[in-house]
Amino acid sequence: MKFLSTGSFVPPRRMTNQDFEKIVDTSDQWIVERTGIHARHVAEEETTLTMAMAAAKQAMEGVDPSAICLVLVATFTPDQATPSVASQLQQALGLPEEVLAYDINAACSGFLFALLTAERLLEAMPGKCALLVGAEKVSGRLDYTDRGTCILFGDGAGAAVVQADGRPTWADYGNRSNGSAIYTDEKGLLRMEGRQVYQFAVRTVTQSIRNVLEKAGLEPGQLDHVVCHQANHRIIEAVARHLGAPMELFFENLGEYGNTSAASIPLALDEMHRNGMLKSGQRVLLEGFGSGLSWGSYLFEW
Ligand code: ACO
Repeated sequence: MKFLSTGSFVPPRRMTNQDFEKIVDTSDQWIVERTGIHARHVAEEETTLTMAMAAAKQAMEGVDPSAICLVLVATFTPDQATPSVASQLQQALGLPEEVLAYDINAACSGFLFALLTAERLLEAMPGKCALLVGAEKVSGRLDYTDRGTCILFGDGAGAAVVQADGRPTWADYGNRSNGSAIYTDEKGLLRMEGRQVYQFAVRTVTQSIRNVLEKAGLEPGQLDHVVCHQANHRIIEAVARHLGAPMELFFENLGEYGNTSAASIPLALDEMHRNGMLKSGQRVLLEGFGSGLSWGSYLFEW
């Protein structure tokens, strides 16, 4: 799978841990020690659609719109139930009517699942490309009196244009239905059993990475980059330790953006791409995990 381009957007409004000290009984020290998060960006007038649009427009720069046959938007926070964000993007970006456009809701695993879906569909559409977007306005789903949850999340969007190029890729993924670990309540607000999710994340992510490495016949040290869903520094650190892999392999920008759910992996990829960190032929492992519970690993060459 070839990434032709990337894009991203975060709202300018930045909320620091000090801002949260004024809202809930917490401290900068607690948040940094438990999560590694220092700040997150929070939508004001921005919507999931406008953030998705901004990221998608960047990713579409220099791309021939007629090459796009598929638009997938990963989100669990669409502005409305229907029409889908993807369908609205198709029209706003002037993409052909023949594109297949729909949203995918797999929470923090959403972008990874969109990528896996695109890979399968593009096999049947040689030469064609997919526009993949992860966009979330999680702030609209937060209870700002629940200190165990509200300090973790941020808003934003990331996008990529991908094309199947016949090179081998390796994947591992799954779902373990557990509606009480992360869910939205009767008011539509996000609730989470933090410790349960933490333990799931460390165990399952580590095993999923081992599975995908075994399929590819590689050791952790032979990877160039691991881009995990940006949920918590301690989760990434524990995964690295269990794998016996150096922390330098693991990209992190959660300190600035918090957990942006489905947007976190494409946001990270766009930052890495723009910083020149991603070089042709490098082995990149993407790892998504979250509500469902769901998870997925995807190994490919940049
Ligand atoms: N500030 C200060 N104290 C707090 C805060 C806060 N913001 N939040 C919780 N506490 C308190 C708790 O009340 C508790 O106090 P008590 O001991 O008096 O009862 C204490 O801190 C410890 O609470 P825990 O929940 O056990 O803390 P933990 O070390 O597990 O850290 C955290 C909590 C950061 C949420 C962690 O469990 C975590 O990161 N979990 C994973 C979350 C995640 O990755 N989610 C990703 C998926 S999200 C999705 O898919 C949409």
